[in-house]
Amino acid sequence: MMNQNVLWRVLLTASLSALLAGATSAVAQVGTHEDNVKLDVGSYPVDIQHGYKLFASKCSECHSLTPSLKQSRSAEGWAQEVRRMQAMASSHINDREAHLITNFLVYVDVHRSAAAGDTASGGAGGSPEQAGKQTFDSYGCSSCHSVGGAGNTSAPLDGIGSKETADALKKLITSPPSESSMPAMDVPAKDLNNLVAYLLSLK
Ligand code: HEC
Ligand code: HEC
Repeated sequence: MMNQNVLWRVLLTASLSALLAGATSAVAQVGTHEDNVKLDVGSYPVDIQHGYKLFASKCSECHSLTPSLKQSRSAEGWAQEVRRMQAMASSHINDREAHLITNFLVYVDVHRSAAAGDTASGGAGGSPEQAGKQTFDSYGCSSCHSVGGAGNTSAPLDGIGSKETADALKKLITSPPSESSMPAMDVPAKDLNNLVAYLLSLK
């Protein structure tokens, strides 16, 4: 189980953890010098920042953080990987923390892909619906919801655009009814408008 590679990572982790302990500034540097991943943590939504802090402290206990920040997975793939790590005997990551960490990893993954695709797609030239789809992915909505069968199919959002108005959707997302199991999502106005444009397009 503890192969050499993992052992090496465990040794590396000690110095990384020390580095990350001080990483409350806006931009965090993760990794060894030739292997740097730069995270603009200050620009993230609040709950994603929270997920980052949990990720930095909980996921660095056994190995380097860098592979997690370079790999690309679907939202469900990340949820699975975090559950797998959560299950490892000595890890003490509760379900709420696992959820926040998953949302952070999905957010970073999506933004990295978006940045890589920027030059090809002409950057911000997309429609509000397209931007909203990205927001949907980056906020980890698909860890609980599916669209067209992709994501968590226990709460599909297909057809939501014919059921709700823009105002009702904004309310459902940012301050859902207290009896609902939908968490209140802290989505800034601009992202929220795109997100709602996307949801309204799901007829
Ligand atoms: C209890 C120790 C432990 C903790 C805590 C832990 N991991 Fe791991 N992780 C491992 C071990 C051991 C491996 C290598 C063996 C394997 O993949 O099953 C691994 C492998 C991985 C891999 C695959 C690495 C690769 O090179 O492909 C990823 C990604 C990963 N962990 C992410 C995470 C994330 C994210 C967290 C925090 C939620 C986390 N780990 C917390 C022990 C841990
Ligand atoms: C932790 C899981 C979870 C996350 C994350 C989540 N939701 Fe939900 N959401 C739910 C559940 C469960 C419901 C059903 C609520 C109920 O009726 O009890 C719901 C309901 C909704 C509804 C109303 C659906 C309907 O048919 O009336 C919308 C719209 C919605 N969510 C959008 C979103 C968006 C957009 C995001 C991301 C910003 C998101 N949700 C993130 C769990 C989640």
